[in-house]
Amino acid sequence: MMIADLGARAMGLLDPETAHRMTVKALKTGLGPRASKETPRLEINVAGLSFPNPLGLAAGFDKNAEVPNAMLNMGFGFVEVGAVTPRPQAGNSKPRVFRLRDDAAVINRYGFNNDGLEVIAGRLRSRERRGIIGINLGANKDSEDRTEDYVTGVKGLAGLVDFYTVNISSPNTPGLRTLQDKSALSDLLTRVQNARNEASPDTPVFLKIAPDLADEDKADIAEIAQKLALDALIVSNTTIARPESLRSHSAPEAGGLSGRPLFAPSTALLREFYQEVGGVIPLIGVGGISSARDAYEKILGGASLVQLYTALIYEGPALVPQIIDDLIGYLDKDGFRTINEAIGAGHS
Ligand SMILES: Cc1cc2nc3c(=O)[nH]c(=O)nc-3n(C[C@H](O)[C@H](O)[C@H](O)COP(=O)(O)O)c2cc1C
Repeated sequence: MMIADLGARAMGLLDPETAHRMTVKALKTGLGPRASKETPRLEINVAGLSFPNPLGLAAGFDKNAEVPNAMLNMGFGFVEVGAVTPRPQAGNSKPRVFRLRDDAAVINRYGFNNDGLEVIAGRLRSRERRGIIGINLGANKDSEDRTEDYVTGVKGLAGLVDFYTVNISSPNTPGLRTLQDKSALSDLLTRVQNARNEASPDTPVFLKIAPDLADEDKADIAEIAQKLALDALIVSNTTIARPESLRSHSAPEAGGLSGRPLFAPSTALLREFYQEVGGVIPLIGVGGISSARDAYEKILGGASLVQLYTALIYEGPALVPQIIDDLIGYLDKDGFRTINEAIGAGHS
């Protein structure tokens, strides 16, 4: 067992927010694990970007862009930092993140705590530029024009990131998810794309959606995504649902549930979207991935890329190279030469 994995286990004894802060602090020293290696069969082009492998770090781990390069060193093919809001924000009162160990899950209600656009842009400006880094954009809780917050984020980070993610699916900012409604969403994405066209025309815009959508919302999102030629859809954020299977005593806490119980619903939603927009809009599958088998299932279901967060809390950083190695084994088993051939192959 690697020292880093022992560290991850020791962290499990602390309250989750403290453990996370200490992990980020340790990674900042530059002594984090290094597992990057060439895996040509896992290389994939999405939205004009060349990813060295399809496994990314999901938003929320590196909220303040403190350790993007350390996370690339861990072996991730790309890293999404944020969420960032235009102004710094303290987030909700503590405790606001809970481990559901028996369920391999987490509930969080952080509420977009972050250092704000200026500080985060400064960190991204001074980092050594390499790898693929995206930014997860959010809105301030007390903002009068939330749509404008996303435009501000696009402009403020132009030239500093490889993709933008419009995140209107976090459950912890009251009212945010109403931006997923048809006319609000169309207006938001049009304004974001216009800002992007002016500030950083080659930077793709992704949209991250909630797993708790009504059928009508899904149809609207699929329609808008195609009409506006969105560069990718990220499916999905955390869920406000509480499956009956949950056993941990923290299950009734308010917030977004992530990890294993999210795997089935987020993968089902991914498959639905692949049937609607597959081959037109690339999909990024997120939710409950804790093994190469899970990642592969999302790829067969239509994901061009995948991301994870919660499993890293329980498994530690050795999980990343493990998934990457094992993914190649799954390609071999099914006779695929490259990851590209596997995307959506589970739909026939
Ligand atoms: C503690 C925590 C904080 C998160 N913060 C964000 C965030 O700021 N923006 C966002 O889009 N998603 C955020 N997420 C959601 C993740 O990016 C991901 O969509 C979700 O956790 C499902 O993946 P997982 O099951 O692998 O964790 C957060 C998740 C967790 C557990």
